[in-house]
Amino acid sequence: MIKIAFFETKEYDKASFAPYEKEGEIEFKFLETKLTEMTAELARGCDAVCVFVNDTVNAAVIDKLCEYGIKVIALRCAGYNNVDIRHAYGKIHIMRVPAYSPYAIAEHAMALLLTSIRRIHKAYIRTRDFNFSLNGLAGFDLHGKTVGVVGTGRIGRVFIDICRGFGMNIIAYDAYPAKDSGINYVTLDELFEKSDIISMHCPLTDDTRHMINRDSIEKMKKGVVILNTSPGALIDAEALLEGIKARKIGAACLDVYEEEADLFFEDRSGHILNDELLARLISMPNVIVTSHQAFLTTEALNNIAETTMNNIRSYFENDGICDNELCYRCGNIETCKKERKERCF
Ligand code: NAI
Repeated sequence: MIKIAFFETKEYDKASFAPYEKEGEIEFKFLETKLTEMTAELARGCDAVCVFVNDTVNAAVIDKLCEYGIKVIALRCAGYNNVDIRHAYGKIHIMRVPAYSPYAIAEHAMALLLTSIRRIHKAYIRTRDFNFSLNGLAGFDLHGKTVGVVGTGRIGRVFIDICRGFGMNIIAYDAYPAKDSGINYVTLDELFEKSDIISMHCPLTDDTRHMINRDSIEKMKKGVVILNTSPGALIDAEALLEGIKARKIGAACLDVYEEEADLFFEDRSGHILNDELLARLISMPNVIVTSHQAFLTTEALNNIAETTMNNIRSYFENDGICDNELCYRCGNIETCKKERKERCF
């Protein structure tokens, strides 16, 4: 019998994981609360925990989970900047879902872009009030515009394909450009200078934190549209707001926000928002914020559930080797045990 504690669970998580619960074999404990040092105890008696993007998996939490005999932390997401993977090494196995639907995220980025530049969000509200005026709704064609894509991995490439369909000029920057991809790579500065639209599709690292900042905004074209469906901290939100107020940035479409952890995924409509910066951004007519929604398609949720359950089973039922296990050695060909088809530890 494998017992799994799910943290930060929503109704859509329960629905997609429900088919995998089997009496006497696999038991789920769905918890609405986030995983923190205070809540880790709720996983006592379980064999694995399943967490999402805003759960805390720092050294203290890892130590507590180990103390309760938990063997596996299964991330039901791709990003893992909330996990202290170095501290986890040798103590607890970390698994993730590296890809579940690059289409879900890339299509959401395009949905945000079209909504913003064609003012669909404004038109929707107007026509519901029988206001059929077109004043202030003029947009611009995407055809012939230059889009700069930062990060040409799974999602970035799908987004590039979508942009090709719109007849856009595509330029890209990646710290590790894909060979023979036919993608027109430029330097980051060139991308900032030439793009009408910039879309972020890279992970959060020391190199990418606040990649969009005062200096980079300074280099951009007047009227640039910035899209972010990758970690919020890629953008210095204060610099973004300044750029919007200075009329330098034409529009911003954000599915993420650096300080989203205590806000996103919850209904805060009856509360006073204490985050002045986010409140100010949301108040701008040319800013669209969705609350980390890009992944939320039926296909992606089903893929997440399937891969997460396969990851957990591979530890408990098979030889313990899981392609989706993460450790701080990942990517280092000399020390990575997975490269030799062995367990991380
Ligand atoms: P991926 O790993 O396939 O691609 C990431 C790309 O970024 C790689 O080509 C890599 O070389 C590049 N990269 C790494 N360091 C870089 C740097 N310093 N500068 C420029 N490029 C760099 O990842 P994938 O699956 O395409 O995901 C991209 C991002 O999308 C993830 O970091 C994740 O945070 C975000 N995401 C957002 C979701 C949402 O619901 N909003 C859901 C899933 C992922």
